[in-house]
Amino acid sequence: LARGGLHADLAGRRVVVSAGGTREALDPVRFLGNRSSGLQGYALAATAVARGARVTLVSANVALPAPAGADVRPVTSALELREAVLGAAAEADAVVMAAAVADFRPDTVAAGKIKKTGAGPAPITLVENPDILAEISGKRARPGQIVAGFAAETDNVLENGRDKLRRKGCDLLVVNQVGDGRAFGTADNQAVVLGADGSATEIPYGPKEGLADRVWDLVAERLGAGAG
Ligand code: CTP
Ligand code: CA
Repeated sequence: LARGGLHADLAGRRVVVSAGGTREALDPVRFLGNRSSGLQGYALAATAVARGARVTLVSANVALPAPAGADVRPVTSALELREAVLGAAAEADAVVMAAAVADFRPDTVAAGKIKKTGAGPAPITLVENPDILAEISGKRARPGQIVAGFAAETDNVLENGRDKLRRKGCDLLVVNQVGDGRAFGTADNQAVVLGADGSATEIPYGPKEGLADRVWDLVAERLGAGAG
């Protein structure tokens, strides 16, 4: 439908997508990470390019080919991802945070490789990372900028999703139901996109490109008429 120049409804728009999962260093060789593949974020970037947008893809630790036509900015940690996203968001009409951002990072990064001492492991102290989605939503670098986030919830999906949407202050929150037999990466997965306007758009299970296109539909509806 909304693909390949036939429907270039994002022509002249600048969008930022974050993808993948951050890594929080413990020492020069070790990190705390997560299982995000980056597939959803890359699908968002590819579909936005196909719809005519200029796309900055802030990519955290993803083993996927760069989507043709996107400006890929590789990052490692949540703090690096924040710098890259905030920088690109200054010029953006829309920002979609598909990355799995670590909530916490080790409070110190050892300068050298942590060694066994024979006295057992030292505890790891964590500190909280900044909430990038809340920060961009609160800032709105450009008037009318649309901000979207993703959330995975195990129970009370709609209620928790609504709470999170309000807390973050974003325009759209794509909520996936996970757990309870619904594992990451399985077919038994459904999404609903909650809008700050009270809307709830159900997205049937399907390829990540389909979900990506539905997200851009909802973003495009909310962007004012005319580019820039
Ligand atoms: N996110 C972010 N910065 C963080 C953590 C999360 O920008 N430090 C973004 C994610 O990219 C995602 C959205 O916030 O788009 C929701 O992430 P989620 O982990 O569900 O939200 P949290 O506020 O971290 O809540 P929870 O305690 O449920 O993990
Ligand atoms: Ca989190």
